[in-house]
Amino acid sequence: MSAPADERIESVLQETRMFPPPADFAAQANISSEEQYQAMCQKAKDDPAGFWGEMAENLDWFKTWDTVLEGDMPETKWFSGGQINASYNCLDRHLKTWRKNKAAIIWEGEPGDTRTLTYQELHREVCKFANVLKKLGVETGDRVTLYMPMIPELAIAMLACARIGATHSIIFGGFSADAIADRNNDAQSKVVITADGGWRRGKEIALKQNVDTSLEKSSSVEKVVVVNRVGCDVEMVPDRDYWWHELMDDVSADCPATPLDSEHPLFILYTSGSTGKPKGVMHSTGGYMLGAMLTTNWVFDLKEEDTYWCTADIGWITGHSYIVYGPLANGTTTLMYEGAPNWPDEGRFWEIVEKYQVNIFYTAPTAIRAFIKWGDEFPNRYDLSSLRLLGTVGEPINPEAWMWYHKVIGREKCPIVDTWWQTETGGIMLSPLPGITSTTPGSCTRPLPGVVPDIVNETGESQPENSGGLLVMTQPWPHMLRTLYGDHDRFIETYFSKIDGCYFAGDGARRDDNGYYWVMGRVDDVLNVSGHRLSTMEIESALVSHPEVAEAAVVGFPHDLKGEGICCFVTLKSGNGSDELLKELTQHVRGQIGAIATPDQIRFAAAVPKTRSGKIMRRLLRDIAAGRESAGDTTTLEDRSVLEKLMAKEDSE
Ligand code: WT7
Repeated sequence: MSAPADERIESVLQETRMFPPPADFAAQANISSEEQYQAMCQKAKDDPAGFWGEMAENLDWFKTWDTVLEGDMPETKWFSGGQINASYNCLDRHLKTWRKNKAAIIWEGEPGDTRTLTYQELHREVCKFANVLKKLGVETGDRVTLYMPMIPELAIAMLACARIGATHSIIFGGFSADAIADRNNDAQSKVVITADGGWRRGKEIALKQNVDTSLEKSSSVEKVVVVNRVGCDVEMVPDRDYWWHELMDDVSADCPATPLDSEHPLFILYTSGSTGKPKGVMHSTGGYMLGAMLTTNWVFDLKEEDTYWCTADIGWITGHSYIVYGPLANGTTTLMYEGAPNWPDEGRFWEIVEKYQVNIFYTAPTAIRAFIKWGDEFPNRYDLSSLRLLGTVGEPINPEAWMWYHKVIGREKCPIVDTWWQTETGGIMLSPLPGITSTTPGSCTRPLPGVVPDIVNETGESQPENSGGLLVMTQPWPHMLRTLYGDHDRFIETYFSKIDGCYFAGDGARRDDNGYYWVMGRVDDVLNVSGHRLSTMEIESALVSHPEVAEAAVVGFPHDLKGEGICCFVTLKSGNGSDELLKELTQHVRGQIGAIATPDQIRFAAAVPKTRSGKIMRRLLRDIAAGRESAGDTTTLEDRSVLEKLMAKEDSE
């Protein structure tokens, strides 16, 4: 998947199936005519400040901005002089309406326990926890780490941080102690919120224990708050560790939202890049909230009576924007599920859809491929007729998976929105608008209003229809990242140095004669495993940190379920490697990064193929990992015998 863009385009099937929006869906859609869409796009192009300024009136501001947009990429400021609070926009403003007693969050725990919080109840919990944070010494501008299972307390903690202007940094619960320590050190987090554990396939996942280990290596953290979720034994360090429920017993429910500058950092979210440590993608308050609110409304066509379910984990950007901030800013009922899709059996998601009469369902291609593998009998056991709209995100969706989703889950009635975006973009950028866009399997179709993409070559020239190239954004948008935390130079270098005047997303894509975009995947050394970005370099350094490993090269290979699997070529300091060592290395990578980086293959190799300048020839390794005959150019290879040995090994396996 990381082959050069133009190489991959050859392999893309010419897809001609078109699915116009069903007439009844189109008739009720929030954006309901092509003219309306075109007019919005035109206005955004001609007068970006006018367009976004008008849109921003849909948020509640304590003080109106002086200027909509200041500066140009990469140094943009949105809604300067304006004051706003994300928590206020997700909660308080609904309390003045009939939504006060509407369900904000419907939560289902993996063991089957449930909880529903109305907007008023959620507001109360958030205010209380904001007071807890204050009591622990958290101030506006401080960083707070959240390492939690998918329980309501996670959303409460996010909104409580936002309420007082503390910047949250959420770390996905699958990451290891070392990964937590790195992120805490980078962000200089003052407080960590966690739980004793979380449920996953009936097992308790220890979270507090990982936090304890991480704190041996991160000194900025002063306090830890622990939710009692699974009831397992945990060690509580006096004057450092506190139980959530005890702290909450002791605070008032009165905590007005702090007015914050529009550019105030709402959160940092760490994501993988091709080199170096994880990047702390930092988002603003005003611009981010505007993007999250609008895109949720446009793409998911939200209606007051909808029950909306995004199956992502809040530890990823999808959960930030499309479980919490976007839906709540719209006053939607957002469903949150704690556990695995195959617990107690492979029908769990569909059972939840039936139980809560879910109307809008947003998931990832990797999950869809798992559903297909598990068999139609699971979805077919349940009444899915409440569903009216389906979505996907995370990686290109293969047309077979798209068609299955359309037929088996959508009963050929639900539009599918294939949404392209990134941690950095904050919200959806390219996606069908379900009431007007004809969809076609594998394409994320067209830009949303206000998004101005292009396909360019290495020198920045716009490419004609159907030629592959680099996907860039030529105009700033309010919800784009503002910096990489603590490393503004890297921010400019990563996103703005490749193509002059443009944001470079790192993806290869083409635009067809219909103006539809086809995203082919990343062009650098970043893997997309189950819809999550992993850096090959980080996995390599995890391997090399093992005392027996001399060198490691990690590449992706096509994987039926995960999209991309992780293949590691490992050169040992001595000896040939054994099954024992293979297991040990697998565990070692899991320990260093987390279960998400578990290698699918580890191959011991006497050496890895390199160029004369010493660069690992990943293209060759990718071919070997995928079991392909390597057809590419090998003239720059330093030592041909290395390749021959690797290939010979392949044959004997
Ligand atoms: C990368 C961003 C955005 C939330 C999930 C991942 C790939 C994402 C699509 C899509 C083709 C997609 C891209 C992108 N990607 N959505 N609909 N079609 N590719 O967030 O970890 O920041 O990864 O995921 O390669 O650059 P992320």
